[in-house]
Amino acid sequence: MEVGNWKLGVAKYNSVVMNNVIDFINTNRDRYVDELKEYLAIPSISALPQHQADVRRCAEWTAEEMRRIGLQNVRLIETPGNPVVYGDWLGAAGSPTILFYGHYDVQPVDPVELWESPPFQATVRDGEIYARGSADDKGQVFMHLKAVEAHLKQTGRLPVNMRIILEGEEEVGSAHLDDFVKAHKNELSADVVVISDSPMFDRGIPSICYGLRGLVYFQIDLRGTKSDLHSGSFGGAVANPAMVLAQVLAQMKDKGGRVKIPGFYDAVRPLRDEERAEFKKLPFNETRYRKELGAPKLFGESGYSTLERVWGRPTFEVNGLLAGFTGEGAKTVIPAVAMAKVSMRLVPDQEPDAIARLFEAYVAKVAPKTVELKVTRMHGGKPWMTDFDNPFVQAAGRAIEKGFGKAPVFNREGGSIPVVATFQEILGLPSVLFGVGLPDENAHAPNERLDLGNFHGGIIASAYLYDEVARTR
Ligand code: BES
Ligand code: ZN
Repeated sequence: MEVGNWKLGVAKYNSVVMNNVIDFINTNRDRYVDELKEYLAIPSISALPQHQADVRRCAEWTAEEMRRIGLQNVRLIETPGNPVVYGDWLGAAGSPTILFYGHYDVQPVDPVELWESPPFQATVRDGEIYARGSADDKGQVFMHLKAVEAHLKQTGRLPVNMRIILEGEEEVGSAHLDDFVKAHKNELSADVVVISDSPMFDRGIPSICYGLRGLVYFQIDLRGTKSDLHSGSFGGAVANPAMVLAQVLAQMKDKGGRVKIPGFYDAVRPLRDEERAEFKKLPFNETRYRKELGAPKLFGESGYSTLERVWGRPTFEVNGLLAGFTGEGAKTVIPAVAMAKVSMRLVPDQEPDAIARLFEAYVAKVAPKTVELKVTRMHGGKPWMTDFDNPFVQAAGRAIEKGFGKAPVFNREGGSIPVVATFQEILGLPSVLFGVGLPDENAHAPNERLDLGNFHGGIIASAYLYDEVARTR
């Protein structure tokens, strides 16, 4: 199957109504791309205070679009942070209810000079649309809105009841979403959560994701002295915080890639043999993977394959480092401070709070008394895993097969969507994660993109999904 060449709508479906919906989608292909460009033009970067107004403008644009396509009760629901956009259609008495979740906020665009086209001027090249948020997650949210639109415009109804919530703080840790879910339990009552905020397994290999890693994120600040010092006058007399930071970080993993924090692995659910066997069956080419990443050699916990490492094993990573003189030329200085941002990806049954405590204790133990240490916990989320004998997962499988002409594979992912565990715990709802991004979509990086063939296939699959979910009852 080639880029932009999905055999759209070829799947035979005996319902005239569904065929009409699919015809509508096929006829409106170009319009969808034009509209998506408009959506992607709004720089809704939740991490940067100077974009706060844009984030709100994006929420309003989303709400307007939801009204346009015929959803009801559309409104912004305020939180202490960015608003949640809510809309529903509850006219399918007796049918199940889907709670669709996505996010309209995006990541910052730095380093902007590496973008081949401006991040907020969506540009189509070789059947892919390039823009920040194209894959993560506006493009995938829009795909569902267009599927809903096709049903409502073509038939005046949806086969299922639908509630949609789109948040504006996913990329900064969804700080207010747990409280939102608790406070709006009734408005969120549903049978299943649907999310499209992840990549598919590979180009031409659609997938359903049944596991996500969790996360705990920290900032480490070290101070050595009151101010920077001349490294000639003072070098050798005081500890250098940049050096100390390097030493502390070096003690987080051993040479075999195993995290050294005591107790870190205690709650890790071991990968089952059957699951490892399933991973092995997937068409994963390690050499191609390595080359695409531009890595001289892959590295990870010994005893595990690459997919096992990323999907089923926890890790410790340094996300950023700051210390001393980094400008052009040379400056002989001992920095007063050094800072690192670090995070740990977690797997079932690791608990973010418990891991956070283990990490804090370990850092306090390995950091020498020659520097002042401050450890600040930032955002995080629980890992999540579901089994796929749930009827909604099976329904999604059939829908994807109809949209993409190919049955999906089942995969786990290394990324995190903290609210998925919340939906399970607070609302008791299973989630179906059906993403149409690609592993090389450059999410969070320059030149983020979404394959337009996958976008259109995804609209069709989503339209079928609502119908298939209706048929579970
Ligand atoms: N779309 C991603 C989540 C994702 C990434 C799922 C890769 C599957 C594979 C989401 O927007 C994201 O970036 N999540 C953050 C969560 C964090 C800020 C708590 C992540 O994983 O870093
Ligand atoms: Zn993201």
